Amino acid sequence: MTVVRSTLDPAADGYRDAAAAMTAKLTEIGAEFDKALAGGGEKYVERHRKRGKMLARERIELLVDEDSAFLELCPLAGYGSDFAVGASVVTGIGVVEGVECLIVANDPTVRGGTSNPWTLRKILRCNDIALQNRLPVISLVESGGADLPTQKEVFIPGGRMFRDLTRLSAAGIPTIALVFGNSTAGGAYVPGMSDHVVMIENQSKVFLGGPPLVKMATGEDSDDESLGGAEMHARRSGLADYYAADEQDAIRIGRRIVDRLNWRKQGPAPVAEVVEPRYDPEELLGIVPADLKIPFNPRDVIARIVDDSDFDEFKPEYGSSLCTGWARIHGHPIGILANAQGVLFSEESQKATQFIQLANRSDTPLLFLHNTTGYMVGKEYEQNGIIKHGSMMINAVSNSKVPHISVLVGASYGAGHYGMCGRAYDPRFLFAWPSAKSAVMGAAQLAGVISLVSRAATEARGGVVDEEADAGMKKMIEAQIEAESVPAFLSGMLYDDGVIDPRDTRTVLGLCLSAIHSGPVAGTSDFGVFRM
Ligand code: COA
Repeated sequence: MTVVRSTLDPAADGYRDAAAAMTAKLTEIGAEFDKALAGGGEKYVERHRKRGKMLARERIELLVDEDSAFLELCPLAGYGSDFAVGASVVTGIGVVEGVECLIVANDPTVRGGTSNPWTLRKILRCNDIALQNRLPVISLVESGGADLPTQKEVFIPGGRMFRDLTRLSAAGIPTIALVFGNSTAGGAYVPGMSDHVVMIENQSKVFLGGPPLVKMATGEDSDDESLGGAEMHARRSGLADYYAADEQDAIRIGRRIVDRLNWRKQGPAPVAEVVEPRYDPEELLGIVPADLKIPFNPRDVIARIVDDSDFDEFKPEYGSSLCTGWARIHGHPIGILANAQGVLFSEESQKATQFIQLANRSDTPLLFLHNTTGYMVGKEYEQNGIIKHGSMMINAVSNSKVPHISVLVGASYGAGHYGMCGRAYDPRFLFAWPSAKSAVMGAAQLAGVISLVSRAATEARGGVVDEEADAGMKKMIEAQIEAESVPAFLSGMLYDDGVIDPRDTRTVLGLCLSAIHSGPVAGTSDFGVFRM
């Protein structure tokens, strides 16, 4: 074995400054997580409890195996929008009767658990995760359907929610709906499209239209129970497969259903014992400097996240601005690509392409640790074919079939974000550290480019540049881009699956790798035409 050497000095000023900056960012992000935890706020939580109901997170806690981990996904969805942080739904991967399942729980304390545009995006992202990784889906339903004021953004694309459920079923991935309350209109199709449905006496209400709508549509007088009560669905319509006495009973039945799935993972089991890293993961706090222009050594990160800090580096002398190599995380083999000095040159791109092909030959999942300002620009690099070589790397990333996981630890700018398997390249999971920043380029560079372009235009028209106005414009644009590049903002837009504490990275990766191995893990030899 080869123990990776970390040269990080926790006694150095640089370490202390970086750790202090990271801790401050964690506190800021923590305040946003607290908002998601608070759901619709005290008034609505109180009312919900008075109705004798459990909160969404309490339902999840009771559903998953005792003392097992729950990997919450997209908790900051909706941040920066007019909607509550969390987007009125709690989602994540939890273990039920030993089976990793994707759990989607409406939060009825937030506007009746209705689906706004961010709720929709979050649920669709979860359906993709379930399909790609072959995870059974458990919906804990209590939702008034579409958020009516934003229906134009929800109604038409929202059809995918129901389509996804039946496609999961067709792919042999079980779908289970436990209905805790209202499941109106579109919401009625969640149980409708699920393989297994549990309803609760005097509590579940599933109808296409409630009594007022029915009265409007046909003039018929009706009531909740006869239109969509649990007893009616259990005895007459047949929509309910199981009739539960209360919430606890519904969760018990849900666990029995999972137990009877006879679920088997299709991916290989871990190949080795889990051995903790030789370096302290606590020190992950102090690696990334607050100023992302200051480089850091990704081997310091790798040493603290891989089993036994054992890392066989591939081509270390070649293309040294990208570190590549083989390791294990929680016993699962993994190939790692980590930016070392920020910029990607032709050599780095060629090295990455070869490495990705090798991982596909050995069916080894890949981890991308981002800290890149993008591909190198300039005459010399253009003439030596940087576009060609960058395209080669992007080709390899796009067509690779082994599972990919991306973690944005520092910068993730420009096409470097693409080559390192950014969101649009469908990594199975993508997480960000609070230190990460992602945009087409850095805020100062972007403002500078706009200024240069507008100066040239003014001069071409024979005008004179107003220096004060130009400086003001640059400052404004820089502030805007900076605010749009930070993890909470990008997480709010569902461009990642969550912002994580650096110290949790190994655990999060272990949970993801375990979930990924629910499905088969196989590489490919079929890539696009490589432009040599
Ligand atoms: N769109 C937007 N806001 C909605 C909403 C919807 N579909 N349904 C409820 N809300 C809002 C309510 O206006 C209320 O806001 P307020 O507290 O600021 O006044 C808040 O969510 C809570 O609703 P409330 O009715 O007090 O909660 P409840 O727990 O007693 O009942 C529902 C929840 C979902 C059963 C009930 O609100 C309802 O039937 N809503 C309409 C459902 C519907 O017809 N949907 C059609 C979808 S296509």
